[in-house]
Amino acid sequence: MKLPIFLGVNVDHVATIREARGGLYPDPVHAALQAEIAGADGITMHLREDRRHIQDHDIERFAACTQTKLNFEMAATEEMMKLALKVKPHDVCIVPEKREELTTEGGLDVIGQQNKLKEFCDEMHGAGIAVSLFIDPNEDQIEATARIGAPVIEIHTGRYADAPNDTVRAAELAHIVSAADYAYSLGLVVNAGHGLQFNNVQAIAEIDAIHELNIGHSLVARAMFTGLSEAVREMKRLMVEARYR
Ligand code: PXP
Repeated sequence: MKLPIFLGVNVDHVATIREARGGLYPDPVHAALQAEIAGADGITMHLREDRRHIQDHDIERFAACTQTKLNFEMAATEEMMKLALKVKPHDVCIVPEKREELTTEGGLDVIGQQNKLKEFCDEMHGAGIAVSLFIDPNEDQIEATARIGAPVIEIHTGRYADAPNDTVRAAELAHIVSAADYAYSLGLVVNAGHGLQFNNVQAIAEIDAIHELNIGHSLVARAMFTGLSEAVREMKRLMVEARYR
């Protein structure tokens, strides 16, 4: 029997547009609620150290009203841990974070920071929060994740998504398939995400071991085009109505 597959919608880039003007809209919490109504199974918000898009109050406001679940994406820092323990999201996803990067560039080195990550996972576990570690499709990193007791991994699909040609894409896909199967065989919940778009999602969604896909940029980009005609029509209608009344 096939297991279901779930969609986590990342609304960071709604906040990116808001922060470009520093105002109140578009509100990523409104976007998250609309995504829930449209069928999202959960919402991801990444609170970066530099607060370039999502702000602390977004996390707090959404955690208080979600009808699905909040996946709070963060770096493994004291500051983020404190906020997670206060807000109590359903899940946290730990990612490596560099201030100068445009977006998350690679998976965590779980092997290189096992003690720190284990302490982090234990603390979250004690608070009833499931920890997901964002890692590359690599067996050693998967084993280390299982060893420290994190229940969930998110496989970084960025190299698959950004592959320069079909041969590289097929090789990256093969890594993801075997990593997902291996992690599943160890009893881990297997999520995946980064760079997934309308034209590359299906090969990943086909992988039976994968539980949830986290997708953001392509959804917000598509929504601009599916929504722009209506927005322009409404603006024009208001202008013409004002001129001739
Ligand atoms: N998963 C993780 C861990 C991420 O860091 C991101 C990007 O914030 C995503 C999923 C979503 O990636 P994208 O915006 O490319 O769909």
